[in-house]
Amino acid sequence: MPGYKIVDHTYDVVIVGAGGAGLRATLGMGAAGFKTACVTKVFPTRSHTVAAQGGIGAALGNMAEDSWQWHMYDTVKGSDWLGDQDAIEYMCREAIPAVYELEHFGVPFSRTKEGKIYQRPFGGHMRNYGEAPVQRACAAADRTGHAILHALYQQSLKHNCEFFVEYVALDLIMDADGSCRGIVAWNLEDGTLHRFRAHRVVLATGGYGRAYFSCTSAHTCTGDGHGMVARAGLPLQDMEFVQFHPTGVYGSGCLITEGARGEGGYLTNSAGERFMERYAPNAKDLASRDVVSRAMTMEIREGRGIGPERDHIELHLEHLGVETLESRLPGITETARIFAGVDVTREPIPVLPTAHYNMGGIPTNLHGEVLRPTADDPDAVVPGLMAIGEAACVSVHGANRLGTNSLLDIVVFGRAAALRAAETLHPGAAHRPLPKDGGERAIARLDRLRHADGRLRTADIRLAMQKTMQGDAAVFRTSKSLEDGVRKMGEIAGSLAEIRLSDRSMIWNSDLVEALELENLMDCALATITSAEAREESRGAHAHEDHPQRDDANWMKHTLAWVDSGRVRLDYRPVHTYTLTSDVEYITPRKRVY
Ligand code: FUM
Repeated sequence: MPGYKIVDHTYDVVIVGAGGAGLRATLGMGAAGFKTACVTKVFPTRSHTVAAQGGIGAALGNMAEDSWQWHMYDTVKGSDWLGDQDAIEYMCREAIPAVYELEHFGVPFSRTKEGKIYQRPFGGHMRNYGEAPVQRACAAADRTGHAILHALYQQSLKHNCEFFVEYVALDLIMDADGSCRGIVAWNLEDGTLHRFRAHRVVLATGGYGRAYFSCTSAHTCTGDGHGMVARAGLPLQDMEFVQFHPTGVYGSGCLITEGARGEGGYLTNSAGERFMERYAPNAKDLASRDVVSRAMTMEIREGRGIGPERDHIELHLEHLGVETLESRLPGITETARIFAGVDVTREPIPVLPTAHYNMGGIPTNLHGEVLRPTADDPDAVVPGLMAIGEAACVSVHGANRLGTNSLLDIVVFGRAAALRAAETLHPGAAHRPLPKDGGERAIARLDRLRHADGRLRTADIRLAMQKTMQGDAAVFRTSKSLEDGVRKMGEIAGSLAEIRLSDRSMIWNSDLVEALELENLMDCALATITSAEAREESRGAHAHEDHPQRDDANWMKHTLAWVDSGRVRLDYRPVHTYTLTSDVEYITPRKRVY
């Protein structure tokens, strides 16, 4: 493309994203001897994994008896039977060595008196197949993600992996035979464009929380990998399942870890009632997230919310005492002070369910290979393309993720992707010539946006999208809200044709970065709301008021959504109803009570 300086690179493997998943894959690829590049739009230790607080799930049994089979049962139940049980078995079994590996990598876990890794209770984690809460969340105070991210970054530096920091990935380079051959990225610092050729591209670009108005996600969580995959003509899976974390700080959305309830915190309504006892008599405040978020929303809707507008709930930690707050929950003590003006030793924190996690994403198998499902083969893979972490849908979280299973997912499947590459690729293997397009479409997209001269600002289109998602694809959904949402989102997506950029520079052009991100977010929003409108049942995080029951006969299937130029086409693929080994049996669907 004339006028653009293009720099070519050749690697065995290119990883896009340097959060926990990206870094675990990067270090695994480097350790396997691959020439590895990690392309990231922010400095690695600023990736969103840094914000994960409460812990990483693994049945170490340090506090009381536990087993990976109980962890698997809880994860399947938490997923409301939409998770693939072979992948869940793999993750829960691998959790134990994965946490010990992190310990050896240098993660400073909190300790018990005996010096073992400290574990706290978390929502939906139970002993003996749902009997009573168990302490399974391995914690580094309430900064577990921060500790893991730093350790993984340090480890990846040992293996000569090369980092391309503050490079924005634009698009995949796809070949005519359907394989992925590399990516095109834009270097923000000097404005150059870079073509990375690779035998494997691994998307570890995180979620798309910023499609919502209020979320716990960093501003960088803009579904960049999702957008790249959609533009490559590949589907997104189970996008209707968006997790609302029960305790975002009212007003700002900042996360207050579920570990706060794990340490004994509890929620109250305007009557001072610990209302979770009514909704989940057994697990109470430690029921699964979707259950707690719905209960809070019901309390507010029925007029028992707190504050002048009766629009939030309170989280009490005052009774825990200064020592526990300082040693176990220092981060959220600070967050509550800064973002809610609350001293947690004396006052409750005002909280509200807040968009937190995307269970859906780029469909993959348990090796991290991206799927292009066909009628004949629902598990067909796209050669050369992998996805891991929140960007991916393996699917281990199904319709609702258990807290602590996201940190687990990123390290287990980051490692799995590296193991798969080592099985299927030789370091230094020869490259075929690049396809004819060779990234031209990616550059044309950037060029089109850079010169966009319409009448609407990026921020205005983004706000319209975020408000629509917040209003019409929230904790509770109705046929009407979803129909309205699909219509409105179609119009908002159409308005992208009217976008106007004020800065035409190629260097540090945040206007252009935000416009590129908005296109990615829009594909995610369209897929989410269209998939939600089609699913006429309630399952996990998808609570449909006109279809309040789970409907296994018709809907125990994964949604596939192809997004193309603002239009969405849906299809479905079967849930895996088998386990990986004969060590465990398939867990048959049953009623989900806590
Ligand atoms: O509540 C939390 O600490 C969040 C953890 C998670 O989403 O897994």
